[in-house]
Amino acid sequence: MKLLVIYGTTEGQARKIARYMEDVLQDAGHKVAIADATEEPPSPEDYDGILIGGSIHMHQYQSAVAHYITRHVAALNKIPGAFFSVCLAVASDMDEEHREAQKITNDFLERTGWKPLMTTQIAGALKYTQYDFFKRLIMKMISKKEGRTTDTSKDYEFTDWDQVKQFASEFVNKGSQAS
Ligand SMILES: Cc1cc2nc3c(=O)[nH]c(=O)nc-3n(C[C@H](O)[C@H](O)[C@H](O)COP(=O)(O)O)c2cc1C
Repeated sequence: MKLLVIYGTTEGQARKIARYMEDVLQDAGHKVAIADATEEPPSPEDYDGILIGGSIHMHQYQSAVAHYITRHVAALNKIPGAFFSVCLAVASDMDEEHREAQKITNDFLERTGWKPLMTTQIAGALKYTQYDFFKRLIMKMISKKEGRTTDTSKDYEFTDWDQVKQFASEFVNKGSQAS
């Protein structure tokens, strides 16, 4: 299949995840293009399937991801699609946090009108060393509330790479049946 991966990112984790998906899909023999949603990404029209993702910051995805989807929604709904959401809520022990993340995804997709075949929540990263003072403070407070580490001298990655691989593989199986 000829596939397109589009991502939105603020601190780079969704890009890392998108690139990992690109590798998984290429290893499975597919032709893959990848683009940042902010950098004039190609239109979905020339592709057999698309994976789009973004990360949650203050309950929202990057606006470039929303713009891409709303601009191309008619074409997107004609090909198999998957949406991946990167956040920290899914790494929490609290079910309420998981439900909240899924609600953000559901509401976002409903607003755009895109109906992907699959969606997933992928745990992101806490990049304390890359945040500015205020971001570090906010993330430390949230982490404390949720029982996560508050040692800001290091970064922490929660991404389950096997889950990412499985999601990408499952998408091409479903996508090839649907197209
Ligand atoms: C300022 C800020 C706000 C965030 N808000 C949320 C949030 O509302 N919900 C959530 O689950 N994760 C939140 N996160 C965690 C990010 O989704 C997580 O760090 C993710 O890995 C970021 O991906 P990126 O590097 O692609 O931007 C926030 C992170 C930052 C720095």
